Amino acid sequence: MIDPTTLPEPRFVEVGARDGLQNEHVPIPLEVKVAFVDALSETGVREIEAGAFVSSKAVPQMGGSFEVFENIRRKEGVKYSALVPNEEGLERALEAEVDKIAVFTAASETFNQHNINCSIAQSIERFRPVVARAKKARLGVRAYISTAFYCPYEGHVKPSAVLAVVDRLVALGVDELSIGDTIGRAAPFDVRVLLESLLRRVRVETVYMHFHDTYGMAVANALTAWGEYKVSGFDSSAGGLGGCPYAPGAGGNVATEDLAFAFAASHGRVTLDFAKLKAATSLLEPHLGHAMPSHLGKLVPKA
Ligand code: HMG
Ligand code: MG
Repeated sequence: MIDPTTLPEPRFVEVGARDGLQNEHVPIPLEVKVAFVDALSETGVREIEAGAFVSSKAVPQMGGSFEVFENIRRKEGVKYSALVPNEEGLERALEAEVDKIAVFTAASETFNQHNINCSIAQSIERFRPVVARAKKARLGVRAYISTAFYCPYEGHVKPSAVLAVVDRLVALGVDELSIGDTIGRAAPFDVRVLLESLLRRVRVETVYMHFHDTYGMAVANALTAWGEYKVSGFDSSAGGLGGCPYAPGAGGNVATEDLAFAFAASHGRVTLDFAKLKAATSLLEPHLGHAMPSHLGKLVPKA
């Protein structure tokens, strides 16, 4: 039987203000984004991905990321990070005084071409000066590997393809990896197969899992990574919004509240405040034109 006291405390990276919003088609006003990030800062989460310094032609919703960083109230003890695809993005990120950047590539060529308009090898070369400069500026550096299980264009992705990208990113000196199930198609079996080989290569503390929930597998996948492999880092999105514009059919990220509930119900130490998470998503929901997909968000509070 699993002894929960031997399992690590889950660490959440809140991606609702980036992954959550990037696929929403109605433009969300700046003040709402800022209020959302400020409300997330009060939930107990220690890291918030608050925007992306990408082309606003490619992802219009992220166009106001600089202004988001300019206007948020930075809470002590919380790190505020952003996606950065290239040197132009790093310039903006430095100006915006982010605490941490996240470069992003993929384990499948076709997705990478659609997403960032270059091959995997070209993306690594683009990241080389970005990572070096970010480190010089004492910023944390995360690297996303999208399509680590399935690609919307190429289908199943072999773990060997993921490991090849991991090796190149580790050689660049990134601090951590976020392993993306971009289209939310993986199941616990896939997670076991990948983690068996990945964790022979890199320290478990440097691994974050980024599960989208298209097929309803995200919580099961996260519990597998945590309970069987002692992975402690997880990306999640308050309310369960999310999806990549270049990953057709992708569902939202696993909802922060659903994942926090799952860990707490499995005797994991969870310090997030559920009422404050609800307060944060309630600020956003009226501007979306649809309900939040999370399970907990749909529960009617007891009178
Ligand atoms: P490109 O067209 O190859 O770039 O785009 P370029 O260098 O040829 O420049 C073309 C234009 O873009 C120029 O402007 C540049 O200034 C501008 P123009 O002269 O035409 O007016 N540009 C930029 N503008 C703002 N910020 C920048 C920047 N760089 C160039 N950093 C690029 C390449 C990567 C920029 C583009 O393809 C892009 O922005 N793609 C967006 C990708 C994206 O954000 N995808 C969603 C996030 S990834 C994701 O969701 C997956 C994840 O959640 C994990 C998972 O689930 O698996 C992380
Ligand atoms: Mg994602």
